[in-house]
Amino acid sequence: MELMELLKTRRTYRRFDQSRPLPEEVISDINESIRLASSARNGQALRFLAITDPKKVEEIFPNTHFAGALPPEVGTPKEGEHPVAYYAVLYDGSKSSALVDTDAGLAISNMTLAAWNRGVGSVIMGAIDRKAIKEILQLEDPWEINLVVAFGYPTHKSLIVDMKDDNTAYYLDENNDYCVPKRSVEELVKRV
Ligand SMILES: Cc1cc2nc3c(=O)[nH]c(=O)nc-3n(C[C@H](O)[C@H](O)[C@H](O)COP(=O)(O)O)c2cc1C
Repeated sequence: MELMELLKTRRTYRRFDQSRPLPEEVISDINESIRLASSARNGQALRFLAITDPKKVEEIFPNTHFAGALPPEVGTPKEGEHPVAYYAVLYDGSKSSALVDTDAGLAISNMTLAAWNRGVGSVIMGAIDRKAIKEILQLEDPWEINLVVAFGYPTHKSLIVDMKDDNTAYYLDENNDYCVPKRSVEELVKRV
């Protein structure tokens, strides 16, 4: 896909075809995209867990919270629509974490783009029960979970729409597709 088209269509997806696991080449691209990400001082301090075992994925699911802007009965994926993989972004909790979020954001951006380049959608998830997920993954100290990213083949569209009345809340349209209001370039970027 052409880069600007990839950036435009790599949106957040929250309903997936649960019967379609990620092929190895997608996992391999996501993994390589992590390796290629920039990091502060080239420290490459983060680590990642790829969770693809369906049993583990289903254990993690209730500890992740979808679409805070929508009522749960609308925003939470139903049986058959769950993600088929999660990546947990890990940081060393014993070290200063000033640049963890920046490193994590850059890696996550790469990962979600690499996946979308192969038609796999994703949702970055910060509303998660870190303690419970840490236990499920049997993660040892000092490693802590920064965010998780859920992946799967989307079963809906996700469209950018113009923002009205400064309202950033995303919503579902009559086709049950996500509409994501974005500010105009003029509002976001001043040229001096
Ligand atoms: C740091 C971060 C945390 C997020 N956490 C969640 C989450 O816990 N649950 C969820 O459904 N979406 C989550 N999202 C997705 C955002 O809601 C989404 O990016 C936003 O609505 C804009 O949509 P877009 O990604 O299509 O541009 C998160 C996004 C980011 C960047």
